[in-house]
Amino acid sequence: MNKLTATNISKTYQSGDHQSEVLSNVSISLSEGDSIGVIGSSGSGKTTLLQILAGLEIPDQGDIYFNDINLSSNNAKNFHLMRRNLFGYAYQFHYLLDDLTVFENCNLVFKIANDKKFNKNSKKIMQILDELGITSLQNKYPYMLSGGERQRVAIARAVVHEPKFVLMDEPTGNLDQENAEVIQNLTIKLSQNHNIGIVVATHDLNYAGKLKSVFRIENGDLKSVQNE
Ligand SMILES: Nc1ncnc2c1ncn2[C@@H]1O[C@H](COP(=O)(O)OP(=O)(O)OP(=O)(O)O)[C@@H](O)[C@H]1O
Ligand SMILES: [Mg+2]
Repeated sequence: MNKLTATNISKTYQSGDHQSEVLSNVSISLSEGDSIGVIGSSGSGKTTLLQILAGLEIPDQGDIYFNDINLSSNNAKNFHLMRRNLFGYAYQFHYLLDDLTVFENCNLVFKIANDKKFNKNSKKIMQILDELGITSLQNKYPYMLSGGERQRVAIARAVVHEPKFVLMDEPTGNLDQENAEVIQNLTIKLSQNHNIGIVVATHDLNYAGKLKSVFRIENGDLKSVQNE
C-alpha cells in the first residue's frame, strides 16, 4: 500500500526582523485511502503543512517520503514529475482560471503535462464531474458559479489526473452548513472510491470528525486529537 510520510518537518518564516517557527519537528504519515483532518486556529500552520506535504513549499528541515523514496532528495526534474503525478491540491482560495470553462480548468493539468490523450482524459474529467454532480457546469466559466460549485470544480481539478494523495485546504470554507455537508460527503466518497489518501485542513470540527484521524496544530506541534 502506498504511503506518504513526512518526518521531523520544521518551518520558520521570517518577516522583517521577526522569526516565527510555524512547524517544529512535525511528523505525519498517510496511506492510500486514508483520510486525515488537520485543525488549528487561523495562522497555526495548516496551509503551510499541506504545501510542504505536496512539495509546494520547502521545509527548513525534515524529509518527505513516498514509500521509501525520499522526495526531498530527488533531483529537481524527477521530483517535479513525481509531485505532479502523485499529488492533487485544492487551494484554500480555489484559483480557478477565469478565462477557462469548468472543463478547461480540469483539463489544465493534462495540458501542463503535455498529455495528448485527449479522449481518455476527457472521459476521466467527465466521470469526475459526474461524481461531483457538476456535469451540467462543464461549459460554464467560474464567474457563473456559486461558491459551492466552484469548490466542487476545484476538487474535481485536484483529482482528474488520478493522484495518490490529495491535499484539500478548507474545501468547505465560506459555505453554509448544508453545502458544506454536501462537499464533506463528496470528498470522503471520492477518497473511498478512488483509494486516494486525503489531508483536509478545516476549521469545521464536524467535518474533521468524519475523517479517519484528526490532528491539531498548536504552537508548532502536531498532535493527534484522540491523544489530547
Ligand atoms: N510565505 C510566508 N511568509 C511569511 N509568513 C508566512 C508565509 N506563509 C505563511 N506565513 C505565516 O505562517 C503562519 C501560518 O500560516 P498558514 O497559512 O499556514 O496558517 P493556517 O493555519 O492555514 O491559517 P488559516 O486557518 O487562516 O488558513 C501565519 O502566521 C502566517 O502569517
Ligand atoms: Mg490556511
